[in-house]
This record gives sequence, C-alpha cells and structure tokens, in this order.
Amino acid sequence: MDRLVIEGGIALHGEIPVSGAKNAALPLMAAALLAAGSHTLHNVPRLRDIRTMQALLGHMGAVCDHGDAMTIDTGNIHTLEAPYELVKTMRASVLVLGPLVARYGKARVSLPGGCAIGARPINLHLKGLEQMGVDITLEHGYVSASARRLRGAAITFDQVTVTGTENLMMAATLADGVTVLRNAAREPEVVAVAEYLVQMGARIEGAGTAEITIEGRPALTPGSIRVIPDRIEAGTYLVAAGITGGRLTLTHCIPDHLEALAQKLSAAGVRIEVDGSGITASRSEPIHSQDVKTWPYPGFPTDMQAQFMALMTLGDGVSIISEQIFENRFMHVLELKRLGADIELDGRSAVVRGIRELSGAPVMATDLRASASLVLAGLAARGKTEISRIYHLDRGYETIERKLAAVGARIWREKG
Ligand code: EPU
Repeated sequence: MDRLVIEGGIALHGEIPVSGAKNAALPLMAAALLAAGSHTLHNVPRLRDIRTMQALLGHMGAVCDHGDAMTIDTGNIHTLEAPYELVKTMRASVLVLGPLVARYGKARVSLPGGCAIGARPINLHLKGLEQMGVDITLEHGYVSASARRLRGAAITFDQVTVTGTENLMMAATLADGVTVLRNAAREPEVVAVAEYLVQMGARIEGAGTAEITIEGRPALTPGSIRVIPDRIEAGTYLVAAGITGGRLTLTHCIPDHLEALAQKLSAAGVRIEVDGSGITASRSEPIHSQDVKTWPYPGFPTDMQAQFMALMTLGDGVSIISEQIFENRFMHVLELKRLGADIELDGRSAVVRGIRELSGAPVMATDLRASASLVLAGLAARGKTEISRIYHLDRGYETIERKLAAVGARIWREKG
C-alpha cells in the first residue's frame, strides 16, 4: 500500500489551483440517470470516488468517458441496481436511488453498512421516498424501491442531510405534482445539483434555502454543466498556509463558500484576503486557539473539523472543538497525539491544548478528512512523518502531493 512521506517544518508559498468538488460531481453524475442521452460535466476531479461512481453507472449500462470533460451516456440503462461491492466502498452510491426509481419505477440499492465517522443511516432518504409513494422493502442487505410514478409530497427532514436532500430533489423532478422539502440542506453542492436539474428542464425554487419546491415534469433532457470548485480542498490548503506560517493563494475557487472557515482562520491569526475567485491565506503571528462547533452550511463544515484541529494543536491556548454532525468523527485524534498533540476527548468534543511544536512520526490515515489533517500536521511537524493507508486521501484530494510539492513542501509518495 502506498504511503506519503513528509519532511515537515517548511513554510509553504505560492499558488494552488482548486479542483472541482467531489461532493458536487457525484450527485451530478447520478442526476444523469434522470434523462436518457449524453450529459457533459466539466471540471470533474480525477479521484477514486469519481471512478467508483463511473463504475457504478457503467454497471447500470451508462457509457462514461472522462477526458477533458466527462460525458455520460445514459441511453441504454439496463440494470437498475447498485451492488454491495460498490456501495460499501462509497456511501454516495446511494445517490442513484432517487433518480432510478423516479425515472424507471424501480431500483435495488445495497444498504451502505458501517462507516468510520459515524452510523450514517439512510432512513431519511427512504422515509421521503415513501412519502412520495415509493414502496420500499429491505431484504438481503438491499433496499428495493418501486413505484409506478412518484407523487409530489411535503417532506420535512428530521435532520439536515446533504445527500438526502439531493436524492429527494432529484426524484421529485419527475414526480406527479409539487414536492416541498423543508429543513433542506443549504450546501453549495445542493445548489449546484439544482442548477443542473433546472438546465435539464426541471422546475425548482429555493435551492440554497431550507425550503426547496420542485414541480415535477413528465421528462427531462440531458445538458452540460461545470462542477463548482471544491470548498473543502480549498479550505484544507488555507489551513496548510496557516499551520506552516506561509502564504498560499488558492485560485479558481468561490471564496463565499468558505465564509465560516475564513472567519475562524482570521480569528486564529491567519490573514485571509479575497480577490475575485482567488483567496490568499498567510500567517506571521502566533496561532490563536479558537473554539469551533460544526454545523450544516452555512455553519462551520464537519469536513473541515479534523484539519482545523491540526491547526489548533499549535495554538497559544485551549480550543474546544465540538462535532455536531457525526458522532464518531474523531479518528484523527489518536494519530495527532502520536505527533505530540495534547488532545483530550470528551464525548462529542475535543479539548485541544496548544503545544509549541509537533514532531514527525509514522501515522495511519483512517478516513478522508482525518488523513488531510495528518498531512497538515506532518507539514508543520519537525522531522519525518509517514502516513500509511493513503487510499483514503486519494478518494478526495486530486494529486495532493504534487500540489503541495509545487508550493515548497517536501512530500512524496512511496509505493509498497
Ligand atoms: N442522517 C441520518 N439519516 C439519514 C441521513 C443522514 O440520520 O437518512 C444523519 C447522519 O448520520 C449525520 C447527519 O444526518 O449524522 C448528516 O449527514 P448527511 O446526510 O448530511 O451526510 P451525507 O449526505 O452522507 C455529505 C458529504 C459528506 C459530509 C456530509 C455533511 C457527500 C457525498 N458527502 O454526506 O462528505 O461530511 O454531507 O456535510 O456529499 C467527505 O467529503 O469527506 C464527506 C464525508
């Protein structure tokens, strides 16, 4: 298995181009199932999760080609199933459920099973579909869904769910009548999916607010869209500038999507400057410890919690980091401690006492964002850090070692 080796302690300087957002590209690829024909997605990142979604669509009969742009031809869908082998490696596979049952009246999707960051059930996806008239049965580890035609419904989510909102919004575009989604997720990725659906002929209002209204149509037509920049990748590199005391400009991003993080970074002593689609982070003062609570967008993203914690390990005081979205998203804590961090876990909070210096050590990646936090800590640590199980990183960060090496980091991948 590949590992990343980092010789830390170098302040990073330069520019990093931000890639397309994985969490926007995945639902956009699933949306292609809603209309037979050729869909074109620009700015799709080259990542393991994207290849998994390609394999899943391919299994169903779609022809997916990822050249300069990605084209997905859904003219010959023959298998309405998401098998366990693919779903178990990527929970976002469940995004095909809504589009399949809405377009073909049938779907069989494996239940995702366990996950490193929390239980992550899909009960809210299923409950919403049932409210739209879908007959759901659970058997042999699979969800079987069927309906002649979905009907519009008023659905209030018990909890904000990103892929749940996307799944039901996609399904509702082909339902008979109007669907209202309340307590909907407001993430930029949800808005991006709504934009594509509208381009395909859907009628959607309110995406980006907590109430989304969808008027069902008899059919949609394929279109073409550019995937929005990855705000979490961008956020991770902002922290890289902060933790190494360097100066990095991220290009091709949407700074508005990074507002909550930018505020916390500023308070922590990282200077943030915005210039159009560029955002620059630099630090020349000590790191000030800050408390953080994760929330659904526009709150502080759970997907940045681990990376921010890495920064806080070097803070000038005590920081309390509370995870509100996933009950088990602290797998990085024990690994950060191996680098010398002083962190105590107390239920859903971590108490981080800042220390003067981290020291390099072998560590293990446990999930995508936990791995990113270890890279950040390794960049700041004295000496050598070796991160194993980096296939987690490859799910969500395009050429991370090349991007970091280009701004001065001593980082490389070792095979074996
Ligand atoms: N939840 C339920 N029932 C459901 C759905 C969700 O109880 O049916 C709970 C979850 O267990 C969790 C909370 O609701 O406690 C929110 O989960 P959500 O459904 O919003 O998460 P998700 O849609 O599965 C997406 C991202 C995650 C990101 C979360 C939260 C994609 C493909 N994934 O997951 O991204 O952490 O939203 O913002 O969009 C990552 O990129 O590293 C990643 C994990």
